[in-house]
Amino acid sequence: MSFPAILLSRPESGFHAELTTLQREQLPDADVHVAISHSTLNYKDGLAICNRSPVVRQWPMVAGIDGAGTVIDSRDPRWQAGDAVVLNGWGVGETHWGCLAGEARLKGDWLIRRPEALSARDCMIIGTAGYTAMLSVLALADHGVAPSHGEVLVTGAGGGVGSVAVALLARRGFTVVASTGRVDALGESLTALGASEVVSRESLSQPGKPLQKERWAAVVDCVGSHTLANACAQTRYGGVVTACGLAQGMDFPASVAPFILRGVTLRGIDSVMAPRAARERAWATLATELDRATLDRLCSRDIGLDQVISTAGELMAGSVRGRVVVRVTG
Ligand SMILES: NC(=O)c1ccc[n+]([C@@H]2O[C@H](COP(=O)([O-])OP(=O)(O)OC[C@H]3O[C@@H](n4cnc5c(N)ncnc54)[C@H](OP(=O)(O)O)[C@@H]3O)[C@@H](O)[C@H]2O)c1
Repeated sequence: MSFPAILLSRPESGFHAELTTLQREQLPDADVHVAISHSTLNYKDGLAICNRSPVVRQWPMVAGIDGAGTVIDSRDPRWQAGDAVVLNGWGVGETHWGCLAGEARLKGDWLIRRPEALSARDCMIIGTAGYTAMLSVLALADHGVAPSHGEVLVTGAGGGVGSVAVALLARRGFTVVASTGRVDALGESLTALGASEVVSRESLSQPGKPLQKERWAAVVDCVGSHTLANACAQTRYGGVVTACGLAQGMDFPASVAPFILRGVTLRGIDSVMAPRAARERAWATLATELDRATLDRLCSRDIGLDQVISTAGELMAGSVRGRVVVRVTG
């Protein structure tokens, strides 16, 4: 049996990404064999497919950190043929062959049951980006942040994590301020997702003072670097800032002042190795808090595997809005 796949390789001539055909026998061993109907493109997929950062740790690699599909067969008693499953992270697409392919062999421990309210396509509209946004929003809730506490800032709001975070926070009744580098192009769509105000990322991305005027009750940061430092410096007494991304940079040029003088909490968010309970909580909440109209607004396009490599380039250039669904076989 053969199936299509996005294969990343490192021949002597350098890096190569291609849409190719693989045989079932080539798949790595793992206890659950899954037919992938839908995948998506996350920032990390963009980095891997464009060879922009050392995401891939083994060569050759099938790309795709996210997948949704149906179990073909399983040696894991928790999973049976026909089960609808979702996969996010766990090093898939980095150290284990991924889901931008018609089939994948995956560990039973990595899979979660697809929530009934969501189709495979819906799950890939959400993807790791949306599930990370949910982990971030749940972290704010766990910290005790409530809508009455004030405005919540979302940085990188035009991207996948940011746009889902805007929608989820607005649905929970927060006053959301969306920061983006594309105010003119995305202002309207961010407002439609629930942002009360859309601000230019320029106001946050330059070096700033260690303590600034207090504004945010909480922040969901997707970009790191000076933006994260300024977000912390502008957070109100006792507030919380979640950090999940590095789109501006991996650095964190900040001081301890917001933490020791205002009791601000900096909360790291990791989706890749998050334990099953946290994943199941996030997906169950996503299934109840994202309605049809919001899912449709979040998805900017559906593409086939043949458009994955060019779209990954657009993602890296920062010109993709929201989320992209990849139709693999669905
Ligand atoms: N910790 C985790 O487990 C986890 C999980 C998922 C994603 N992430 C990380 O979270 C970040 C966002 O992921 P994503 O899927 O949302 O990616 P994405 O869809 O590509 O969005 C990234 C957004 O960041 C903003 N941005 C890009 N370059 C920037 C710059 N130089 N300065 C400031 N902002 C910039 C842009 O937003 P605007 O156009 O609106 O300005 C862009 O749309 C990435 O760094 C990704 O690696 C981490």
